[in-house]
Amino acid sequence: MKPKELKSPYEIMQSMVEILNTKYPEHGKKKRGSIQFYFSYDNREWECYIKADKSHLEFHAGKAENPKVTLRCDFFHWLELSSGKLNPVWGMITQKLKFSGRASFFGVLPKPDLNVNVGDMDDRLSTFEKNAPRNRKQHPSVIIINASPRAGNGYTEQFVLKFAEGMREAGAGVEEIYLAKLNIKTCTGCWQCWIGENGCIFDGKDDFGALFEKLNGADMIVYALPLYVDGMPSILKNYFDRSVRRVYPYICSDTRKTRHPRRIENRKNQETVILSICGFHEKSHFKALDTHFRAIAHNFHIPVTETVYRSGAMFLFNNPFFYRQQTEILNSMKQAGTELIAKGKIGRKTKRKIEQKLSSKKEFVKMTNYFWFDKITNQRDNKDY
Ligand SMILES: Cc1cc2nc3c(=O)[nH]c(=O)nc-3n(C[C@H](O)[C@H](O)[C@H](O)COP(=O)(O)O)c2cc1C
Repeated sequence: MKPKELKSPYEIMQSMVEILNTKYPEHGKKKRGSIQFYFSYDNREWECYIKADKSHLEFHAGKAENPKVTLRCDFFHWLELSSGKLNPVWGMITQKLKFSGRASFFGVLPKPDLNVNVGDMDDRLSTFEKNAPRNRKQHPSVIIINASPRAGNGYTEQFVLKFAEGMREAGAGVEEIYLAKLNIKTCTGCWQCWIGENGCIFDGKDDFGALFEKLNGADMIVYALPLYVDGMPSILKNYFDRSVRRVYPYICSDTRKTRHPRRIENRKNQETVILSICGFHEKSHFKALDTHFRAIAHNFHIPVTETVYRSGAMFLFNNPFFYRQQTEILNSMKQAGTELIAKGKIGRKTKRKIEQKLSSKKEFVKMTNYFWFDKITNQRDNKDY
């Protein structure tokens, strides 16, 4: 595949003339004649002209016959002049622009106007985004996306099972979906989901369209995932890449950080809960993931209302040295599910129990190395851990 070619000054001029032509028909100063340009760019001179008549502007490379006016300048200065950033008088005084002939003939060029009507789009932070728990339904419908590439065979599942049990007991409807079991093709960046009449090129050919529809019905989505290389597993990242259809391509400036407006047909008031586990000892390993998730949540209008981060999870299970902690943590996961639905938040005490330090760093290192040594020397497969 060939890389995209970068446009030459002639092609850029052509694009600029196309933009000016959108305003030319209603421009009050339409006249016949040509403007000759001699631009310097990339250590050479570029000769071209714009021919104006009563209906449109035309770009040509080369020399015009009897131009009304000639401009010699650096190509960038012309672009600044034509986009209204360089005042022509100031340009002459500073010798950036050298006109000869009737400089007033430049009035034939309208100012580029990029204003388009994209319809009414409200992008302000909604009341729900500001305080989702207060605006949550009493019995929300919850979808848990288990994004462990090991689907139901990983440790992520152990946390999910308890959490879901607690949520169900508090009255939520809970369904778990294993991302790894679905056929979701990799986003190709073609933008058809934004601009194509038929939407995403994979709709009807993989499982994402149906999943997206289903998710539209959920009040809360719990993303349950193991930490992979300091972030989310690629299947979940791809799921988010495929999810840009949640929003319009347009952007609004009503929020502190620009974002796309939510597509009106997509679900409003949906919250996100993150449940992640990892192998390393410290909770700080989740920092990059947390920042990433919150950025996605802002862009997709899906506020993060709770997080549960359990480090060292890989060595917690079925480990004689951590059996007490395993029991307490899993019981607390159930409690956390209940509290989230019944009280709107996971209680501080419960969260502290789930995220408790398992041991000193020194002990943890010893245990981890023992664990891997055992796996390697006894050639255990991943059903064992
Ligand atoms: C490819 C890969 C990358 C991982 N990267 C990290 C990491 O960056 N930090 C960490 O603490 N744990 C890391 N882990 C450990 C997993 O988070 C941990 O094993 C977790 O229990 C896996 O979830 P699962 O049991 O549901 O498969 C990684 C595991 C795998 C397989």
